[in-house]
Amino acid sequence: MQNFIFHNPTRYIFGEGQIQLLSQEISKIGKKVFLVYGSGSIKKNGVYEQVLAQLTGFEVKEFSGVEPNPRLETLAKALPLIREFAPDIILAVGGGSVIDGAKFLAVAAYFDGEDLWEIVKTHGEAVTGKVIPLGVVLTMSATASEFNGGSVITRWATHEKDYFETEETRPRFSLVDPQAQYSLPEEQIIYGIIDPFSHVLEQYITQTTDFEVQDRLAEALLLSLIDQGPKVLRNKQDYSARANLAFAASLALNNLIGSGVTQDWATHSLEHVVSGFYDIPHAAGLAIITPHWMQVVGLTQKFEKMVRYGRNVWGLTGTDEVVAAGAITKTSEFFSSLGAKMTLTAWNIPHESLEQLVSAAVKYGNIGENALSEVQIRDIYTRCY
Ligand code: NZQ
Ligand code: ZN
Repeated sequence: MQNFIFHNPTRYIFGEGQIQLLSQEISKIGKKVFLVYGSGSIKKNGVYEQVLAQLTGFEVKEFSGVEPNPRLETLAKALPLIREFAPDIILAVGGGSVIDGAKFLAVAAYFDGEDLWEIVKTHGEAVTGKVIPLGVVLTMSATASEFNGGSVITRWATHEKDYFETEETRPRFSLVDPQAQYSLPEEQIIYGIIDPFSHVLEQYITQTTDFEVQDRLAEALLLSLIDQGPKVLRNKQDYSARANLAFAASLALNNLIGSGVTQDWATHSLEHVVSGFYDIPHAAGLAIITPHWMQVVGLTQKFEKMVRYGRNVWGLTGTDEVVAAGAITKTSEFFSSLGAKMTLTAWNIPHESLEQLVSAAVKYGNIGENALSEVQIRDIYTRCY
């Protein structure tokens, strides 16, 4: 195991009715609140009202319209408003896109560089100056952005989608009420199962095998997602299943299972390239790419872990070769059984896009635990149509 420091200072406040703690949490930080949300789901499901009720007595300014796969171009419009308002806190009310957008605003507001994209391109290295504190009311569990410092932003003008991460963009607090997620459409529930599943795989299916604690935690999360996810799809208002799914998603990427382990993240990088061009939902891309990544990279470079995954997560028996191959089939069948489309073609992404994706992925650079070769990248994408 590698040396590590685990430090996650986000106050993670979980459970039924916990949004009522919002004003108390904000009061610890300040009086002026810059409220950020998406395209309006919070106005339909009652979360907006709950939040506004908590904001009585605070000075509030709103910015809405942060889209899924949040774009630099949209977020840049909020910057003059923030600079003029000078908030004590940015409050994100939404899913991963809204939270990531708010994180970007938190660092971009007082960024003194020339080009905002530098923040993302340098993965946060370029961040200097003041970062505005961030609070979160979560409405969709998937990304764990509520419990980490990462943010994924798209610059649509150049079709680049990439991440940045800083300690300062870890939310000061995150309120996670599973009931706020009862209104999620089926499609988003599916993504809220597949995205955390992939986050665990990225930290679990690696070449190193002496992370016994982290691997067992990872297996517990995968088993919980396999067990609880379909229950939520069957009954959106199953509180217990929804709560378990939400907590599993938060733990999948809060640095816990990633402490001291080598990680991969090739599937995510390959997905970012796809949605940078075609704007498909993040986990829709992951569902398609993951099984093919396993075939091309998992079976060759991470065979031992694929076998462990097959035996411990899917309960497969037989020779190592049979178990590792069976694990890929099981993964693919699981995603498909949830209702995910399993090809790029099903998203109307034409085969002619192949070379565009390959060259963008090569440019993205250094993808995966052992930097994928162009041949591997082309092989994986080719299988995705
Ligand atoms: O626009 P709003 O009104 O918020 O509607 C959203 C959006 O249309 C809707 N929604 C959210 N909560 C709802 C709801 N609809 C009804 N009821 C609710 N309670 O769902 C749609 C999708 O929301 P979005 O925030 O885009 O989903 P998700 O949480 O999956 O976030 C995806 C983004 O996060 C990035 C992805 O790349 C993508 O851009 N990621 C961020 C990560 C991180 N910060 O750590 C890691 C991930 O790997 C990922 O890359
Ligand atoms: Zn993800």
